[in-house]
Amino acid sequence: MNENGFILEAENICKFYRMGATRLKVLRGVNLAVKKGEFLAIVGASGSGKSTLLHILGALDRPDGGVVRFEGMDLAKAGAGQINKFRSKSVGFVFQFYHLLDELNVQENIFLPSMTDKGIIGWLFSRKATKRRARELLSELGLADRASHRPYQLSGGERQRVAIGRALMNEPRLLLVDEPTGNLDSETGNGILTVFEELNRAGQTIVMVTHDERIARRASRIISLTDGKIGEV
Ligand SMILES: Nc1ncnc2c1ncn2[C@@H]1O[C@H](COP(=O)(O)OP(=O)(O)OP(=O)(O)O)[C@@H](O)[C@H]1O
Ligand SMILES: [Mg+2]
Repeated sequence: MNENGFILEAENICKFYRMGATRLKVLRGVNLAVKKGEFLAIVGASGSGKSTLLHILGALDRPDGGVVRFEGMDLAKAGAGQINKFRSKSVGFVFQFYHLLDELNVQENIFLPSMTDKGIIGWLFSRKATKRRARELLSELGLADRASHRPYQLSGGERQRVAIGRALMNEPRLLLVDEPTGNLDSETGNGILTVFEELNRAGQTIVMVTHDERIARRASRIISLTDGKIGEV
């Protein structure tokens, strides 16, 4: 964390997409700062650039301008090793469309990040503890009796909970969440939001993007993304 108490800071983030001769300006100077322990919602219309911004904050994409700092570290200036460590250990990502692997069962999907993180030897040494952590997460998320299911054998809400479990596997200091209830009915979505509220109460820092203001209201602070810039709500 830096001296201001911010875990994440974005300054003047710009992002363009080139489509043939035209340039689509999606982010036009986004500024935001997230305090440790905060649950921040960013609300914006479909196509406003929420997923684009979240991918940049998680170092899954690079901005065309501006700076992202995580605990004071400028992501653009970090070396490949530091970025890999950031992606695998510091940040957890819950994607808009789950991105679970159908070839793996629920338990394997959840502990996948810790396998890729450690390499094969490290994995062999740590697999007992890793499997224990995966089992704990499964039961916390109400999925204990779904451990052997494949993602296509799950309901939408269950898939979303698996995606949350995978994001939490390495105990990230920052959780980035993209439209977590977009594909769910309101009751199931409500259950998912309760999971985030409980995580936040336990100290988890969360940044969530959504098009739905009602969902955003479950966070402790809301800002908006409009015309490629951040505004207060
Ligand atoms: N790879 C790309 N190439 C060109 N244009 C893109 C690309 N990715 C996104 N866009 C455009 O950028 C804009 C922002 O996309 P983004 O996915 O960030 O929006 P969003 O706010 O997450 O929308 P939604 O609420 O529908 O998920 C959209 O108009 C989209 O068409
Ligand atoms: Mg999106």
